[in-house]
Amino acid sequence: MFIYIKLSMTSIDGVKVRQIVEGKTKLFVPDVKGHPSKGKVFFNPAMRLNRDITVSLFSVKRVSEFLDAFSATGAKGIRVMNEAGIDVVFNDISPLAVKFIKRNLKLNGLDARVENKDANILMREERFSAIDIDPFGSVSRFMDSAAASVKNKGIICLTDTDTSALAGSYPTSAIRKYTAVVGRTSFMHELGIRALIGFAIREASKYDIELRPVFVHSTLHYYRVFLEARSGRKRASDAVRSLRWIVYDRKSEDRWYSQFPDPSFENFGPVWAGKLFDEDLVKKMKGVSDASKALIELAKKEAGFELPYIDYHILASKHKLPLLKMNKLIDVLTANGISVSRTHFCSHCFKANAQPSEIAPLLKSYN
Ligand SMILES: C[S@@+](CC[C@H](N)C(=O)[O-])C[C@H]1O[C@@H](n2cnc3c(N)ncnc32)[C@H](O)[C@@H]1O
Repeated sequence: MFIYIKLSMTSIDGVKVRQIVEGKTKLFVPDVKGHPSKGKVFFNPAMRLNRDITVSLFSVKRVSEFLDAFSATGAKGIRVMNEAGIDVVFNDISPLAVKFIKRNLKLNGLDARVENKDANILMREERFSAIDIDPFGSVSRFMDSAAASVKNKGIICLTDTDTSALAGSYPTSAIRKYTAVVGRTSFMHELGIRALIGFAIREASKYDIELRPVFVHSTLHYYRVFLEARSGRKRASDAVRSLRWIVYDRKSEDRWYSQFPDPSFENFGPVWAGKLFDEDLVKKMKGVSDASKALIELAKKEAGFELPYIDYHILASKHKLPLLKMNKLIDVLTANGISVSRTHFCSHCFKANAQPSEIAPLLKSYN
């Protein structure tokens, strides 16, 4: 899936590097054996889809400048510059990373401003149209500055690898970092992404900014969220007012949004309860790799749904249902007038505009 072309061996500031090609961009990356975190500058080939989707999105959503606030080797920002044609400001707190960025810019015949600051300080000093937040772990310590820095109609891009807190494994951690109540559910990654968006909306509302998701994905060990910012006190108030609790009936698997918690069931939130994708934007997006094309195709299908996905295996086990092939399941539900779609969140999960307790009886008789 990942194409490495070993063109030459060299070093940057004494760090052995190899040259690879990702998308249309050449990159020097640390020549690390084992986990990418072992490198003196971070580069994770498994995050390619994150960078591919970023290039695909900014090829459609034009912005005047993109701050790659946690650049590391500069991989993402250089691809945005090279492949989406957008001006990028690079930044990393590590002086060695700055050397990698400058070298990689030169390798691609590009020139850009490169800063060596704590991202929180840079975002307090200046405003940017698009801001990419991609730290190690949680974005929570950087969200406030990103909200203060983003320009009207700009985009905040978050990569959060703190998924176990957001998806319900560590509820106290989620309260500390995201002021959200989460717990274990069968739709854990959608709960995690919706809790993350809810947190971002609350943070931005202090600055009279409304945030709204335009594209999200849950991939491997991380969540990726693109949020469009619009200035205005009323917009910010409406965004906060639109946050909801997810009420979860663990017995039936039913889940619904509510303005207030319902003490008869489990409650998680406050979360974003609207659509996770801007359908017009997604329609225009073209992938830049097989994986990004496949993800965008799925996103087009699930973009219209608001309720969290249903895990078919869990539904079947709780309601004693046969396990149909996914295509058959979709046909059966569609024939019964239910809107249904596959979802990128998981291959045996689906989105529907009906509750599990309504769906289960329709599936019971099929084999
Ligand atoms: C996960 S890596 C970024 C990966 C990169 N965006 C990519 O696509 O390959 C995180 C980077 O953030 C940098 N970093 C950590 N804390 C920072 C801070 N407070 N301000 C700026 N950079 C920081 C680290 O030096 C590291 O290079």
